[in-house]
Amino acid sequence: MTQELTSPSPAPRAPGAGRGPAWWRDAVIYQVYVRSFADSDGDGIGDLRGVRERLPHLRDLGVDAVWLTPFYASPQADGGYDVADYRAVDPLFGTLQDADELLRTAHDLGLRVIVDIVPNHTSDRHPWFTDPETARQRYLFRPGKGEHGELPPNDWESVFGGPAWTRTDRGDWYLHLFAPQQPDLNWENPEVHAEFEAILRFWLDLGVDGFRVDVAHGMIKAPGLPDIGHGAQAQLIGSQVLPFFDQDGVHAIHRAWRRLLDGYGDGSGRQVIGVAEAWAPTPERLALYVRPDELHQAFNFQFLNAPWQADALRTVIDASLAATSSVGAPTTWVLSNHDVVRHTTRLGGSLARARAASLLMLALPGSAYLYQGEELGLPEVTDLPDEVRQDPAFFRGGRATGAAGPGTDTESAPDGVAAAGGQDGFRDGCRVPLPWSGEAPPYGFGPGGSWLPQPADWAPLTVAAQTGDPASTLELYRAALELRRRLPGLGDGPMSWAPAPDGVLAFTRPGVLCTVNTLGHDAELPAPGTPLLSSAPVTVQDGTARLPGDSCTWWAI
Ligand code: GLC
Repeated sequence: MTQELTSPSPAPRAPGAGRGPAWWRDAVIYQVYVRSFADSDGDGIGDLRGVRERLPHLRDLGVDAVWLTPFYASPQADGGYDVADYRAVDPLFGTLQDADELLRTAHDLGLRVIVDIVPNHTSDRHPWFTDPETARQRYLFRPGKGEHGELPPNDWESVFGGPAWTRTDRGDWYLHLFAPQQPDLNWENPEVHAEFEAILRFWLDLGVDGFRVDVAHGMIKAPGLPDIGHGAQAQLIGSQVLPFFDQDGVHAIHRAWRRLLDGYGDGSGRQVIGVAEAWAPTPERLALYVRPDELHQAFNFQFLNAPWQADALRTVIDASLAATSSVGAPTTWVLSNHDVVRHTTRLGGSLARARAASLLMLALPGSAYLYQGEELGLPEVTDLPDEVRQDPAFFRGGRATGAAGPGTDTESAPDGVAAAGGQDGFRDGCRVPLPWSGEAPPYGFGPGGSWLPQPADWAPLTVAAQTGDPASTLELYRAALELRRRLPGLGDGPMSWAPAPDGVLAFTRPGVLCTVNTLGHDAELPAPGTPLLSSAPVTVQDGTARLPGDSCTWWAI
């Protein structure tokens, strides 16, 4: 008998979210990069109303929660990660009322909402920084070295390239681990703690379900701000503890925030969460951020960085699970975000691999983060003209991946344009506005244009074009998320490896077995069960399963 599964099995939708108090332990959380999701007013820039209008897409996709990137008042020197007022919505994105309405609509649809909080630095237009008196107390100013103080206080480099210090017209220097428009806060000052706790409360009172903590590994610097002793420091991020990243002192802040978040739990079991964007050198050090009295989750960038090889994937998966389970936290999985090359492109420009990697991710125990557009199989846009680029790393000659750590293996070319392996190395290429419908740009993104040009060949990738096509990536994600909700064995819970040929991974979850063929050609193994869902056509004949190259299959066992 030959069984063939060429398309996702259609299944009725389960009722909306509501997975109980610990909803986050296996939540699928969808990252909305607000500026590029949907534009309601025709200025070419996505906004909160646009997000609200498109929330049904996320409900139909089947995610549990949405993470919104910063939409606060900001000069936009770094896509809104330079906040001038943490309690105001930037007019580009709407109003506080729009934020309120978005939250209500999301909750009505059964979607939780997480917002970004940026505590390592503010904008240089923040009133604390523009007032020289408060600035001195609340940021990191130091006298320069050299006879006339003309040299930076130490050798630290900005993640975006160049020195991490800028000299003021008063002659002293201030620290900015990112762009000069993003001065680092002085977390030795209790006023900074108090202000951020008040900001958290402001958004919690409005009804948010949690925070993605930007640069959660950065707030505390080593005493005396010691030199590192060599350059190319961005490439060390995530491979060692640096005097400005992953200092033990940050954990006291996370513990205080956890107490605050827990205080917002209520009798109905509401749990609001914190998720750390933290770059730590090992899974064990990353797990420190998710100890029971710290944040709930941390992004697992080790998984994102793993090459498409069975052994390497297995090693990263084992290390991730071991580290987080040692502290009782769920593991998270992520393949793409607004700081790295989209995984369709990163995994060798192969949509087949990207689809397989996504199904693998969604079969693993814990919580998964999706980045807008990955459900459409969008590639990185690698040919943006320089004049439209906005990534500050581009202008400072740094590394695209520096903001998030050593995310991909691209390297800066001498002229500052990173281009290795045919991949544009900066961060605009993953931020191109989403294609929703239609035959030509802006593909339903909004009534006007789009702030970054969309490729002319994206018509087949729109949400409308893929909807109802069982072979599409969008329907694959919908089917996978539907199965995750329907099958209790997926999500949080046990996993164990099963025997498989070289280059193939096989593991069981309760009631489900997942196979991943990382080879570029077919692989065979005894059929482990009945195929439930596959990223590529899988066949079963006389008890033998034939797995296409670069594919992932879920089996009912
Ligand atoms: C984080 C953000 C990134 C930003 C940086 C500075 O890494 O993800 O986009 O540039 O922090 O805030």
